[in-house]
Amino acid sequence: MMTETNSLQEILEWYICAGVDEICADEPFFNMPKQVPVMASVAQESVKQNAPANVPVRHATTELAQATQTAFQNAKDICDKVATLDELRCAVEAFEGCALKMTAAHTVFGDGNPQARVVFVGEAPGADEDRIGTPFVGRSGHLLDKMLAAIGLDRTSCYICNILPWRPPGNRTPLDSEIAVCLPFLKKQIDLINPEFIFTLGGSSANALLNTAESISRMRGRWLEYTKSDGSQAKLLASFHPAYLLRTPGQKSKSWADFLRLSKELNKNS
Ligand code: URA
Repeated sequence: MMTETNSLQEILEWYICAGVDEICADEPFFNMPKQVPVMASVAQESVKQNAPANVPVRHATTELAQATQTAFQNAKDICDKVATLDELRCAVEAFEGCALKMTAAHTVFGDGNPQARVVFVGEAPGADEDRIGTPFVGRSGHLLDKMLAAIGLDRTSCYICNILPWRPPGNRTPLDSEIAVCLPFLKKQIDLINPEFIFTLGGSSANALLNTAESISRMRGRWLEYTKSDGSQAKLLASFHPAYLLRTPGQKSKSWADFLRLSKELNKNS
């Protein structure tokens, strides 16, 4: 028989699974969608574990792949119809194809100058970004702001965004399916801003934009090419994520060298 204590514990465990790891408002709330979205971002592992006994795992993963494909196609169709960053922001806020939105407090769209020559791309919002609704405002963001300032940039002269506009519960690593579904929104932001330079923060954003599985240590330190949807190119520099630098300060000198590389290019063509 279930006791009150049991059910309270279960509720708490459910909150933890959903990524509720801190209290940031007096009143609890859940941003539940009006209708159940095409759940592209269900963990493959979880599908395997939770598939009912009579559903073969292969069938469950095929359904996941189909849901991801449908949500990805929806995202692409939406992107084809929008003409401005404001329209794109509204479209992302209204998008119901990624289940991360259900546990997020805010949609974290890009921030900064829409005419910037350089776009910085991180991975996904953390707890502070989710609470405030702006990318890179927590500890990693403070470090990023300092590094930007050191080469004469700030949020009025560059644009900052993430692969994912919603925080993964508990800051877990984004799933490939979540990245795949949200990638059209990132690419559209880049198309609309049309930057000369892209500076990726961490391996996952470089991997997503360049469609490669190369490690960040092999990619960083040299200019790569990103092709926008009109066929024009932006020079892409892959560097470390500020969160990694906070954990591994010994790598800051390499990151600093990357910021200087960017600064040199910006000054060359200004
Ligand atoms: N880490 C990211 O990748 N993006 C943010 O916005 C914050 C932390």
